[in-house]
Amino acid sequence: MPQLTGLTDVHCHLVPYVDDGADNLDEALQLVAMQAQQGVSVIYCTPHLRAGMFETPQEKVDRQFERLRQAAAALPGAPRLYLGRENHCDKTLLDNLRTGQARTLGGGNWLLIEYSSRHSRREVLRYLQAVLDAGYRPVIAHVERYPCITQDPGLARLMVKQGAWLQVNAAAVMGREGLRTRWFCRRLLKQDLVHLIASDAHHVDMRTPNLGDCARFLSRRLPQEQFARIFYDNPACLAGLPAHAAL
Ligand SMILES: [Fe+2]
Repeated sequence: MPQLTGLTDVHCHLVPYVDDGADNLDEALQLVAMQAQQGVSVIYCTPHLRAGMFETPQEKVDRQFERLRQAAAALPGAPRLYLGRENHCDKTLLDNLRTGQARTLGGGNWLLIEYSSRHSRREVLRYLQAVLDAGYRPVIAHVERYPCITQDPGLARLMVKQGAWLQVNAAAVMGREGLRTRWFCRRLLKQDLVHLIASDAHHVDMRTPNLGDCARFLSRRLPQEQFARIFYDNPACLAGLPAHAAL
């Protein structure tokens, strides 16, 4: 199977010095090159934003991203880079929703949010509603990681019905995070509840860019229409094109 091209990675940690992703500009550029080798042509860099853990000020994130973007542009076949944040569901997110300062994917209307594994069903739905009430479209990062969702078959569907898009990690789909997680991802795919798949890449030797591997893995396992929607149509919506899935 030839390498797929024109992929979009909507969630990864390539900006150096701002979270637990790329350690420096050199590693960040290697990660961009690996993304290109995976067939990725659009990358949303999504540094963590989490109270008490990852609190790098936005100005520093903007500065480091711009440095990376300019350096990456010189690489042959360089993907286009956009900036977002992986917004943890906590007080900082609620403050940013209130003040209109939440950082969306590429400055559009889509907000990548991450729950804690300890959040209850009630808290999950409360944060989701807060994001919707503030006028954003939520993308739930690696939905396979939250016990209250994986253990409650109806919750993922309810969240989608309310307006969330669900993102799963490529490694989880391919079975690299255990059988149980793979089974959950497959079930979500079968129910057509997966909107996006992303690498969540952090480093060149650990949690590496792998979106192309996952696309190849799924290309013969998913109906063609669903495959195209997850890997091409839905990511294109993030750039401001009309949303594929109606609310
Ligand atoms: Fe992440």
